[in-house]
Amino acid sequence: MAEIQIKHYNKIVFFTGAGLSAESGIPTYRGKGGVWQEYNYEDFACQRAFDKDPQKVWEFHNKRREFINGCQPNEGHRIIAAVEQTKPQTMVITQNIDGMHQRAGSKKVIELHGSLWRVRCDREGTISENTDIPLKSMKCDCGEYLRPDIVWFEDPLDQQKIQQAVEAIFQSDLFVSIGTSGVVFPAAQLPAVAIQNSVPTVEINIESTPLSQLYQYRLQGPASEMLKQLCSDSD
Ligand code: OAD
Repeated sequence: MAEIQIKHYNKIVFFTGAGLSAESGIPTYRGKGGVWQEYNYEDFACQRAFDKDPQKVWEFHNKRREFINGCQPNEGHRIIAAVEQTKPQTMVITQNIDGMHQRAGSKKVIELHGSLWRVRCDREGTISENTDIPLKSMKCDCGEYLRPDIVWFEDPLDQQKIQQAVEAIFQSDLFVSIGTSGVVFPAAQLPAVAIQNSVPTVEINIESTPLSQLYQYRLQGPASEMLKQLCSDSD
């Protein structure tokens, strides 16, 4: 039984990373088997790479679309969606681009790093949903290349999204971080925002992270199992 229980809180922020989707079979980014072990981000996940060879970058993202589409949300995603059902002020702030929270039924999701399932035309400044596998046309009607609406390496974060995330934390009474290495900024600053605002903080991870010491409570183990404990109804 976890020392801390969700049932005592009403305004919960779940701050999620790739470790939450690991049990769906989606590789994390860092560590053994991580995406950035297999692929050099400079060739596949930055604007420079896209400007040089959009086709190659889209091939990588098409492959990810196909793979992730074949995966299913796991119990961790479902538990989080169920918490929102009973506690409507629940918010998800995710670094994940896989769309799994929404597929599990979460409605209030801030996607800090964008989505694999949207495309953007930087000439027109438009963003649209796109679930083609593979993408049917790499070009917008205006002739410009469409790029994934993802925050790649070296891209700035959407300031509005960061502001929304900070607001959600200001309003919250519990901050639960799940499956993130806490090394990618500015997202990794959000636990400190909670702490500075005296919001109790919980870290769920299979291992220690550079931010572990900051958290008030730590649940070490797989996300779904630890969430089950945290969200248990019994005393
Ligand atoms: P990382 O790959 O950096 O870290 C994943 C974390 O999940 C690690 O701390 C693991 O220990 C933990 N983990 C793995 N399996 C787990 C499990 N079953 N249960 C609980 N924890 C588990 O992923 P992120 O922190 O999400 O950017 O990475 C942050 C950003 O870096 C990503 O959003 C991505 C990447 O570049 C974009 O896609 C734009």
